[in-house]
Amino acid sequence: MIFYRQCVSITIGVLLIVLFGFCWKLSRYYSIVSTALPHNESAIKVAGAPSIRWDNYHEFVRDIDFDNSTAIFNSIRAALRQSPSDIHPLGVSYFPAVIPKGTLMYHAGSRVPTTFEWLAMDHEFSYAFGLKSPSYGRKSLKRKHGRFGNGTHGNHPKGPPPDEQGPSSQKMLTYRAARDLNKFLYLDGASAAKTDSGEMDTQLMLSNVIKKKLNLPDDDENERMAERLYAARICKWGKPFGLDGIIRVEVGFEVVLCDFSSDNVELVSMLDMVHPNQYLDLPSPTVISKEEGWPLDKNGNLVEDQLTHDQKAILDREDGWEQVLSNFNAVESFNCIRAGAAHDHGEHRIHLDYRHLVSGINRTYINPDPNNRRLLNDGMTWEKQLEMVDDLERALKVGFDASQSMDWQLALDELVNKFAPLLKSVSNILTSDGDFNESVAINATALTLNFCLRFEAASNNSDQFGSGKDFAIYQYASPYQDLKTDADFLIWSSTVSVVREIVDVVYKVNDLLIPEVYSFMKDNTTSSDLKKHVETARAAVDGLIESLGWIELNYRCERQCNWDEVCYTPSWGPSPMGMTDPGSHDGGFGTHFDESRQRLVINNELQCISVSNLLANGNR
Ligand SMILES: *[C@@H]1O[C@H](CO)[C@@H](O)[C@H](O)[C@H]1NC(C)=O
Ligand SMILES: *[C@@H]1O[C@H](CO)[C@@H](O)[C@H](O)[C@H]1NC(C)=O
Ligand SMILES: *[C@@H]1O[C@H](CO)[C@@H](O)[C@H](O)[C@H]1NC(C)=O
Ligand SMILES: *[C@@H]1O[C@H](CO)[C@@H](O)[C@H](O)[C@H]1NC(C)=O
Ligand SMILES: *[C@@H]1O[C@H](CO)[C@@H](O)[C@H](O)[C@H]1NC(C)=O
Ligand SMILES: *[C@@H]1O[C@H](CO)[C@@H](O)[C@H](O)[C@H]1NC(C)=O
Ligand SMILES: *[C@@H]1O[C@H](CO)[C@@H](O)[C@H](O)[C@H]1NC(C)=O
Ligand SMILES: *[C@@H]1O[C@H](CO)[C@@H](O)[C@H](O)[C@H]1NC(C)=O
Repeated sequence: MIFYRQCVSITIGVLLIVLFGFCWKLSRYYSIVSTALPHNESAIKVAGAPSIRWDNYHEFVRDIDFDNSTAIFNSIRAALRQSPSDIHPLGVSYFPAVIPKGTLMYHAGSRVPTTFEWLAMDHEFSYAFGLKSPSYGRKSLKRKHGRFGNGTHGNHPKGPPPDEQGPSSQKMLTYRAARDLNKFLYLDGASAAKTDSGEMDTQLMLSNVIKKKLNLPDDDENERMAERLYAARICKWGKPFGLDGIIRVEVGFEVVLCDFSSDNVELVSMLDMVHPNQYLDLPSPTVISKEEGWPLDKNGNLVEDQLTHDQKAILDREDGWEQVLSNFNAVESFNCIRAGAAHDHGEHRIHLDYRHLVSGINRTYINPDPNNRRLLNDGMTWEKQLEMVDDLERALKVGFDASQSMDWQLALDELVNKFAPLLKSVSNILTSDGDFNESVAINATALTLNFCLRFEAASNNSDQFGSGKDFAIYQYASPYQDLKTDADFLIWSSTVSVVREIVDVVYKVNDLLIPEVYSFMKDNTTSSDLKKHVETARAAVDGLIESLGWIELNYRCERQCNWDEVCYTPSWGPSPMGMTDPGSHDGGFGTHFDESRQRLVINNELQCISVSNLLANGNR
């Protein structure tokens, strides 16, 4: 603390007069630099990848407003990350994806798939999905709903309805990618939620356009489940382009693989699923029905005081078994949730090739709020939908190679990891209550001045080298791989626009408060406008924090979770924690209804959960 304070005072004390001069000149300098560009026209290659440099980068930045920029920025940051995909559930983009040769994928089902089918990236998911153990005792009467929701949205394609499969009819299959599967489309957001609030628009749009394009008959629509119909159409359309399938978030990530032929995947394991009760050699649960002589009322509930002595003994014994088995079952479900949370920071086995990203963003007005928008809005005309599908076809013809793509998520993570703490710290300093004095200005500028001075030259360097605010933007947004495609430029231009907004605000805070620090150090006083300047600075920072919409700035785990816990982000599809329908008012665990958006959203404070939450949830 003391060292820090001294460091700040010394820095300011020694350099004050010089620095003070610079910081006043910053905005002036900025405009000089901008008008002097570009420096060397011949450095701009027209064909191929342009050489983007500090003194010409403006030439290459394409038009995109700040709202569209944050939408692109946040979509890329959430891509292939479970928690962010659920917090920002309304995806509007198609990301080209590659699953490398050798990657294992899983399926639980009663037979080996022959047509397109769902594969989970985590065996814990397939296992929890496929293994529906029977209940014993009194619980067997109550259990009407599976652990993956109550089935009102149709049965899930990856598993049978609960309690309708005989023991051991389920198989646990493991597949291995036999080659680089380099033509997947990853659909961002909570794209496997079985909803009609927009999470599935990327699938719906493709399905609609394909139906017209391929002149498919209506009777496809008899398909029991919307997403099975979408998958059937998408695979049919993609076949001539070599489409491998689509990727979505569920609890963890899942793949719809279009073609199970051996060139694509090989089956490396097929296990009969064993229920814990079978393994422990327990007899099957006693069937409690009127026919078997059990006292049930007209609602099917047990009439306890009419039980015979023997019946009561059977139930008590089975209730005891059930209690033990429920622990096995709850852990099985909890493992699935943990496997999903393991991908909160990424499903790193899947690689994205951003060069061929196809997004609805910057095609029409799309609300940048990822909880309050949809791809299929009024502005998304049929022509625009056709254009997007054309773009997808063009991309698929090329095929994807993530190693050739700039890793934009890495680049944007870096920005957030640096700027989020800076912005929050400055905001906190400017918000501190108590007596209002110079210490607010000193503490805030200790952060901002250190930022600005990294880009300020000590003397006129004849514009020969980069410096100034404009250079700061270049430096932070500088791509480290050649930009080749429109999508590259869309992402980079968005990055420049986001960084520019941040740099502007940091400089603005500095420009507002450095004069106060100067006056304090020179005359032991601050101006009568100190309060006003601090408030202006605070409004700028807080406004920026709000408009950036970064998950880090708004969502946190309540605490560091224990080893037997998971920091839980609710998901929108079927899950061991139950099915949360975003359109409903009664929120599932960890969500609340947001009036302005008219939907459920995820609470800003994420909670640690353990097996006991699953037991309490009745999810066994
Ligand atoms: C402009 O840039 C090109 C390529 O970097 C270089 O060969 C050329 O000498 C430069 N011209 C001037 C006038 O600096
Ligand atoms: C099942 O889902 C429907 C529709 O979302 C809901 O109204 C109903 O309350 C749910 N039932 C249970 C037991 O969760
Ligand atoms: C984004 O870009 C599109 C097309 O350029 C434009 O219509 C829209 O107003 C922009 N802003 C948002 C928030 O969508
Ligand atoms: C200035 O305000 C800070 C925080 O409110 C306080 O700790 C400090 O004592 C104040 N300094 C003076 C000189 O009043
Ligand atoms: C400024 O920083 C000093 C040293 O960390 C601290 O004691 C003081 O309370 C801070 N003042 C404000 C207003 O944040
Ligand atoms: C910097 O120096 C160059 C010549 O060396 C001069 O043309 C230019 O106007 C100066 N710029 C500033 C901001 O003083
Ligand atoms: C965004 O859309 C506008 C209008 O269609 C277009 O001029 C611009 O080039 C697009 N921006 C990017 C970065 O693609
Ligand atoms: C600065 O002003 C404060 C009161 O505003 C006073 O207590 C303090 O002694 C002054 N310091 C110097 C070095 O004059």
